[in-house]
Amino acid sequence: MVYSDEFSSFLDQHRTNIFIVIAFVISSWLYNKFRVNRIFFPSKCSMRGKTILITGGVSGIGYETAKDLLQRNARVIIADYNMKKGREAIEQLWLETGCEKSRIRLMKCDLRSFRSVRQFVQLYNTEEQRLDVLICNAGIAWAPELLTEDGFSTVMQVNYLSHFLLINLLMNKLNECRPSRIVFVASGAHRMVRSIDWSDAFTQFKSFRIWGIYPMSKAFTLLFALKLKHTLDSNDVAIFAVNPSWVWTSIQTPMREAIGLILFLICYPILYALKFILAKTPQTGARTSIFCAVEPSLQHSKDLYFEDCKVETVSSLCTNYALADQLWEISLQAVGLPVS
Ligand SMILES: NC(=O)c1ccc[n+]([C@@H]2O[C@H](COP(=O)([O-])OP(=O)(O)OC[C@H]3O[C@@H](n4cnc5c(N)ncnc54)[C@H](OP(=O)(O)O)[C@@H]3O)[C@@H](O)[C@H]2O)c1
Repeated sequence: MVYSDEFSSFLDQHRTNIFIVIAFVISSWLYNKFRVNRIFFPSKCSMRGKTILITGGVSGIGYETAKDLLQRNARVIIADYNMKKGREAIEQLWLETGCEKSRIRLMKCDLRSFRSVRQFVQLYNTEEQRLDVLICNAGIAWAPELLTEDGFSTVMQVNYLSHFLLINLLMNKLNECRPSRIVFVASGAHRMVRSIDWSDAFTQFKSFRIWGIYPMSKAFTLLFALKLKHTLDSNDVAIFAVNPSWVWTSIQTPMREAIGLILFLICYPILYALKFILAKTPQTGARTSIFCAVEPSLQHSKDLYFEDCKVETVSSLCTNYALADQLWEISLQAVGLPVS
């Protein structure tokens, strides 16, 4: 009885605030559902005759990107590590697009291992004739295993170092198929990085585990993109990086193992509620990757970073050429390529 009186008086006191919060949540959800998630990249531009390689194309943003590019008649090669899940995704892509089986291929590439990346490139260079667009999409936010067999942070190796190696090893193919493109799927999280500790760059032992490694891996991705754009633009290999914004995918799934049960129980319900209201669908999350992969007018664009199919600015740290040069040198060393 006492509790119900207290509850009624609480409602009376805060009636207006409660009304504002509920109205805000409902209008955000409606705006997201009927406006944000209804905007796709509208161009019908064909990609017939082009071969597009997508890392991590079996789920989420990568899957939707692959689907759209198949509908534009491209040949799509998906590089992923889970072959069972990959085969199911390929079946689903055939069903959904009705494309010929020869236009889609799944190849094994585990970005947690440099050995796997090298084996993948060897097979690709032997069996595939073309590489017109490379979409570096695969990414993880958390990993149960802290370090890889190569001795680097798993998140750092999957998101940045293995893509660094992959691009360097595929550069001849991209040059042969000019005009070609590389699209990096980056993230707005790069803005959380304020400085770089070079002594701990690829191990990230000193970073706070929940957010530390992911933003740094995306900042490195952007510095790498900056360096490539500077060196390759005149070669007709166009470089773009995109921020898909917040997208409802399985990227948060390993969160529980990574952060522990107690933090998970606190964070996940909040994250889930916010995602329900604000997140994009994978289909709308993929539109900027598709835009940068296919839009003809972008081939000679000087712009690097895009969000919602529009140019966006990156943090000042990620426009620093001296940092990009330094990162390039230590990355060559880390992946075992000759240092320039
Ligand atoms: N979702 C967001 O809110 C958001 C926001 C900003 C940026 N991004 C970026 O968008 C990209 C796509 O993420 P998503 O949200 O679509 O997540 P997702 O659904 O989990 O997709 C990630 C893809 O990467 C693959 N992958 C994971 N580990 C791999 C490995 N070791 N080797 C090869 N492939 C591997 C996954 O394969 P499995 O499915 O088999 O694990 C999956 O196909 C990522 O780079 C992410 O950082 C996402």
